[in-house]
Amino acid sequence: MNDTGHRSRAAAARLLGQILDRGQMLDQALADELETGGRLASLEPRDRAFARLLTMTVLRRLGQIDDAINRCLDKPLNRAAKPALNSLRLAAAQAMFLGTPAHAIADGAVRLMGPHRRHLTGLVNAVARRLIREAPAILADQDAARLNCPKWLWQTWKKTYGVETTTKMMDIMLSEPPLDLTFKNEPEKWREALQGEMLPTGSMRRTAGGAIQTLPGFSEGEWWVQDAAAALPMALLGKDIKGRAVLDLCAAPGGKTAQMAAAGAQVTAVDNEQNRMALVEANLERLNLQAETIVADIITWRPEKPFDFILLDAPCSATGTIRRHPDIWHLRTAKVPKEMALVQDGMLAAAVDMLAPGGILIFCTCSLQPEEGEARIEALFATDAPVSRQPITADELFGLEQLITPLGDMRTLPHYLGGMDGFYACRLVRDA
Ligand SMILES: C[S@@+](CC[C@H](N)C(=O)[O-])C[C@H]1O[C@@H](n2cnc3c(N)ncnc32)[C@H](O)[C@@H]1O
Repeated sequence: MNDTGHRSRAAAARLLGQILDRGQMLDQALADELETGGRLASLEPRDRAFARLLTMTVLRRLGQIDDAINRCLDKPLNRAAKPALNSLRLAAAQAMFLGTPAHAIADGAVRLMGPHRRHLTGLVNAVARRLIREAPAILADQDAARLNCPKWLWQTWKKTYGVETTTKMMDIMLSEPPLDLTFKNEPEKWREALQGEMLPTGSMRRTAGGAIQTLPGFSEGEWWVQDAAAALPMALLGKDIKGRAVLDLCAAPGGKTAQMAAAGAQVTAVDNEQNRMALVEANLERLNLQAETIVADIITWRPEKPFDFILLDAPCSATGTIRRHPDIWHLRTAKVPKEMALVQDGMLAAAVDMLAPGGILIFCTCSLQPEEGEARIEALFATDAPVSRQPITADELFGLEQLITPLGDMRTLPHYLGGMDGFYACRLVRDA
């Protein structure tokens, strides 16, 4: 086995330890590794990509992987053997999903034990070899959708969307997502250069890999990375935002800020995290777009005068983004949407307070949980807030009827358009 293979596995094992054992979010764990010059930072781009693939596969398929490991153990791992678990998970990911040669899987898992865990090498070797042998039969016997979906999410999705739709959502959430981009202008020129396909919504999709910074048009500031579903709420502000003042609440990392600025709006972007706002500023600079950026808590901050257009992209459990962030499977619990609902209620009330009479407010979340969507609007109406729903029509969303709920809100599901984030958006108008 070559040494870089080992270093990729070691980097992946470390990331899994940070996420699954210490509860760190994937993006933060990746950023920490790169910033502190951790194992990942020292890898060549190709080996870094392998480390990332290993990590994402384990996070995405952990239910199936742990089920397979349990089937290959004569008795459950005891406390002393727990340090072997993430190495076995990596071995299972390679044997079940990545087609890695058998010798590299077993040797790689054993080598990860290092000098301090030499007493575990016999166990790791035996289980890894059994996983390699039995992977095809185990895979044929597993229900991937049920095993990989945490029970609380399965229950809420089954209740909200039904088993058939939940299974379709799960199928897509278990796959590697493509890269979706939003263009500043000249989409056709850059689509060709990027070898992507245009979606009916105007986003471009690219399935071929490659480091983002090296792709055509990145350094020219012609596009930014944005899931096709995340690009939709901005369209709900209507066509006449050119030259108009728009308030972008909860703005970082700035995908929607960039869209509004590119559409010619005068954007005021507010977010309470300084370091995330720095990302917005860096993105705007690369894209050669302008917006006023303000670091503030939107619950207490107020503009000098009310706005006619507000977009509130509230923080949420982010269960709609699991395909791109599979750590969410393991780090969120049933109480998170309930806690976030309280935050969203406060933000909605604040946004209504900043809205001018006759003004439009778009509320959106990247959550599949109805308590972070429709239920928040019901709760807002129950407070007698001076707003009413302005139903969204399919015409405004590129003729895509399936995105419109019976009440006239937007709801995207992960299996729509060949795969997209699960987003909710509602349009409200303030009483005149
Ligand atoms: C879903 S993200 C926004 C994504 C962004 N609109 C985009 O399109 O790129 C939610 C954001 O809300 C911000 N946030 C959370 N609580 C906040 C508060 N009380 N005031 C302002 N921003 C807040 C977070 O820092 C985070 O950047």
